[in-house]
Amino acid sequence: MSYNHILVQRENKIVTVTINRPKALNALNKETIEELSDAFSALEKDENVRVIILTGSGEKAFVAGADIKEFSDFDTKQGEELARLGQDKLFNKVENLSKPVIAAVNGYALGGGLELAMASHFRIASDNAKLGLPEVTLGLIPGYGGTQRLPKLVGKGHAMQAIMTAEMFSAARAEQIGLVNEVVAQEELLPRAQKIAEKISRNSSTAISKAISAINQSDTQEGFDAEIKYFGELFGTEDFKEGTTAFMEKRKPNF
Ligand code: CAA
Repeated sequence: MSYNHILVQRENKIVTVTINRPKALNALNKETIEELSDAFSALEKDENVRVIILTGSGEKAFVAGADIKEFSDFDTKQGEELARLGQDKLFNKVENLSKPVIAAVNGYALGGGLELAMASHFRIASDNAKLGLPEVTLGLIPGYGGTQRLPKLVGKGHAMQAIMTAEMFSAARAEQIGLVNEVVAQEELLPRAQKIAEKISRNSSTAISKAISAINQSDTQEGFDAEIKYFGELFGTEDFKEGTTAFMEKRKPNF
């Protein structure tokens, strides 16, 4: 499939999806959201894909937000639709994808950009990254899940302060409060993401997809129930047999 605003590159079972509108700091316009949505659906179905790395092109930005130029004349109905469509088509899809999505935050991750990174399963960042939710400076609130995902990641107090002040976090501060897992030099970002992805890709993809689903339900009693259910189901898989047999035979499993 060919795209206008994203690049999809494959290396073995690891795919890097790059948002590629560097002149607009990779801002998410409607077409980019559609393309990302299609790409994630295709990658989810592709049996040869194990892990997805999501990043932005250029050295300046991961994604500087939803495309402000596209929605500046929207009315209330269009505004609500923008948020709902974006969340349904892309942000919730990424969060609930059965394959791991690692956000490699290579610069500004603002508004919808940080929201996309937060919908990803975890985040690593380059040392020049700046992350924030500046929507209140536009008279808005985050509309792509930011009010829900930020407090879960950093706690309610930090989320309140970040959203109210619209201030950006430095990469170091983002790591300190748990918004990103690791910070590395810019040239190390994609190699590091690749290395983490390779490590994940050697593990059982069946088990990882269940782990994602269970972790995503972690705030509810249903989460505990899902964990029990999936745990039991995995005992019936080839991966479970291979994993435990390999342990017993003192060799590495071949998933
Ligand atoms: N939407 C549309 N275009 C954007 C954009 C955005 N979110 N962010 C940057 N751009 C464009 C700029 O308009 C500019 O384009 P032109 O050259 O055509 O003027 C180009 O990208 C480069 O940007 P700057 O010249 O502003 O670059 P800078 O280095 O001076 O500043 C910045 C960088 C601080 C990130 C600044 O661009 C900025 O503040 N951008 C907006 C950030 C923002 O408010 N994001 C939230 C959007 S709202 C949202 O996301 C809603 C939601 O939750 C659903």
